[in-house]
Amino acid sequence: MSNVLWQPIEVGPMELKNRVVSAPIATNTSTKDGLPTADTLDINEKLAESGVALSIVEHHAVHKDGRTRLRQLLLDRDEVIPYQQKLTELYHTNGCNVVVQINHAGSLVQDEEMMVEDWAPVAPSALRHPRCSLYVMPRPLKTEEISHLVELYAEAAARAVRAGYGGVEIHACHGYLIGQFLSPLTNQRKDRYGGDIKNRARFLFEVYEAVRGLLSDEHVVAVRLGVADSMPNEEPRGLTIEDSKWVAKELAAMEVDFIDISGNHCGYDGEGEGYFADYALAIKDVVGDTPVVCTGGITKLSTARTLLEKGSCDLVGLGRALRRNYKIVREWEAKSREDLHQR
Ligand SMILES: Cc1cc2nc3c(=O)[nH]c(=O)nc-3n(C[C@H](O)[C@H](O)[C@H](O)COP(=O)(O)O)c2cc1C
Repeated sequence: MSNVLWQPIEVGPMELKNRVVSAPIATNTSTKDGLPTADTLDINEKLAESGVALSIVEHHAVHKDGRTRLRQLLLDRDEVIPYQQKLTELYHTNGCNVVVQINHAGSLVQDEEMMVEDWAPVAPSALRHPRCSLYVMPRPLKTEEISHLVELYAEAAARAVRAGYGGVEIHACHGYLIGQFLSPLTNQRKDRYGGDIKNRARFLFEVYEAVRGLLSDEHVVAVRLGVADSMPNEEPRGLTIEDSKWVAKELAAMEVDFIDISGNHCGYDGEGEGYFADYALAIKDVVGDTPVVCTGGITKLSTARTLLEKGSCDLVGLGRALRRNYKIVREWEAKSREDLHQR
């Protein structure tokens, strides 16, 4: 089919059969120990059968204290591996590529029950999170604690590939811990992890290098980057597109397998079709051949096709549209075939 949406693409070691990716959507379906349940498996089976070329499975916390919600899935210990194997098996059976997102929430704690006595979440600085609805005053990380956190991401990534994932996506957006480091709104550190963007991005780069170092070249290591703290239609504040262009360029130089675009402290919920198109294009412009994924408000075949044809991105991500209709990719394929015959 001549429609660019159905053209294959190489993403690091992975051969993707088309340009449609399932974006990570947290399901809050884990057991209280962070294991997948029948509900988690059911959702992932539908995604595996949906016709997407790659599924980025919802964010998994690298440590129990790095959860944003109590029912978040965990990759914090080896015991999760056999349970996770059941999940990846669904993708293998359906010939669908799969990676998992790894995350630490830092100060973005969203379930009140998590705020038990004598515990405070960690963050770059002792500042309240701009998007957290609970009253949470985080404990600022000591410089020497940061390398331990870096190791937690790498260990979680190693577990992910042992469980059968084709790689990982590092969550560096939506104001979670890495996003907290990237943004001057939540990072006022005076050490080498705070100050200009070179310092604020240090934590992300260390995580990336540690993960890359533990995985082989046969595995994907990707980054989901929060490009700015404001949505495209808002007054810029905090983390800027210029900052993120520099970060993306560095990641490309470090041979990241793809960069997935979203917002940082502004979150992911915008208006209209393909609302992060300008952010994706800004990043695509500076990363050369590194594949870029654009997600956000894509519900129509025409939007997906236009984004790809304009060169704003190499892949499109579907979040809510795919969960509302698991047949959407098959329907788009059928429609593209019809369009071709009618020419
Ligand atoms: C309920 C819900 C959970 C989400 N969970 C995640 C997540 O685990 N990781 C992530 O990076 N983004 C997450 N997102 C953001 C989506 O991946 C996506 O960027 C966003 O929904 C916009 O795309 P869409 O309009 O296609 O849904 C979540 C969004 C929603 C609505």
